[in-house]
Amino acid sequence: MVETLRVAILGATGLVGQRFVSILSHHPWFSLEALYSSPEKAGARYGDVVEWAIDDRPDSWIWRVKLRKLDPEAVAGEKFDVVFSALPSEVASKVEPVMARMGVRIVSNASNLRMDPDVPLLNPEVNAEHASIAETQIASRGWRGWVAKVPNCTTAILTLALKPLHDEYGVKRVLVATMQAVSGAGLRGVSAVQITDNIIPYIRGEEEKVERESRKILGGLEEGKITLSPIQVSATTTRVPVLDGHLEAVFAELEEEPGSRGEVERVLEEFRGNKLRGLNLPSAPERPIVVRREHDRPQPRLDRMEGGGMSVVVGRVRLDPVAGGVKMVVLGHNTIRGAAGNGVLIAELMHRLGYL
Ligand SMILES: NC(=O)c1ccc[n+]([C@@H]2O[C@H](COP(=O)([O-])OP(=O)(O)OC[C@H]3O[C@@H](n4cnc5c(N)ncnc54)[C@H](OP(=O)(O)O)[C@@H]3O)[C@@H](O)[C@H]2O)c1
Repeated sequence: MVETLRVAILGATGLVGQRFVSILSHHPWFSLEALYSSPEKAGARYGDVVEWAIDDRPDSWIWRVKLRKLDPEAVAGEKFDVVFSALPSEVASKVEPVMARMGVRIVSNASNLRMDPDVPLLNPEVNAEHASIAETQIASRGWRGWVAKVPNCTTAILTLALKPLHDEYGVKRVLVATMQAVSGAGLRGVSAVQITDNIIPYIRGEEEKVERESRKILGGLEEGKITLSPIQVSATTTRVPVLDGHLEAVFAELEEEPGSRGEVERVLEEFRGNKLRGLNLPSAPERPIVVRREHDRPQPRLDRMEGGGMSVVVGRVRLDPVAGGVKMVVLGHNTIRGAAGNGVLIAELMHRLGYL
């Protein structure tokens, strides 16, 4: 039997925070002990102030829990086994390093620290071995805790689909155009007036995140440090009127030519994320990549909950001489695989590897 680990959520009222609540309210290893919010909502009962906006509403005592004010020292004093952060990056960049120095182990969705060479940026099926740089982080910064980061949502979905292609054929260059759900912008991110009957061809900071984080996630590990992959990534990111699920049109230039479309589809669907083999992580989907062969799939509404929202769905795979490799359409759930679900999977991995 696995011992129960005490966990808390920072930013529990936001969209990612709500996903964390939904996943952690029935997790086999983690016991949800505390919820933190902004100072404005602290002291109120969760159920009275949360603007619940996701499809899965757990039947739980959690609605009666009093929200706590985010005070780093008080969080450290609670000695949680792990703390999940769904804070805006401006807030996270101030409090996460302070808490980690005081001994808090943090799995965070915020973008601060993601590219620091001693901070694990984990997409577990792709780069579980990078988890060990938490040791470099503790040693070099003199922290008693650590911070591990969940990648940007679009990047997590993209790199999961690229990994088997990279292993089999070698990926040289990737062009990607995305159609991203409104939930990716948070509870107050995009107004109905802005997005209804519309597409917004710009998401601040997103293209840069996809371009640089992909190289870290697909990079190597040498002497406790990540070496960036030489893969070149160029992204155009757009916001579309879809609730959940980011769709990505991907063009990948490959070093070796695949034999056929069917062969590429098999390489993708046979990917099992071997780095997690034998670890039995509860949130790891049985099939990290699901391939659809119909002409009109994947679709956000029909396919985003594949593997409980933890699988990416790849369709429209074609060999493409213009791209010098393959083109395909990739879909993933942005607040599950792209955020809270991946965060919980990372914490499970860190526990199995002895960091919790
Ligand atoms: N949405 C996605 O698909 C997605 C995917 C990947 C990563 N992320 C990242 O995950 C983080 C959360 O995203 P989100 O979409 O959930 O945002 P959100 O809906 O805007 O939620 C933000 C949360 O942070 C809390 N907060 C704001 N200011 C605070 C403060 N000064 N002190 C303490 N708590 C504070 C809010 O509490 P109140 O309700 O009390 O204001 C709320 O719980 C962001 O860094 C985002 O970039 C999001």
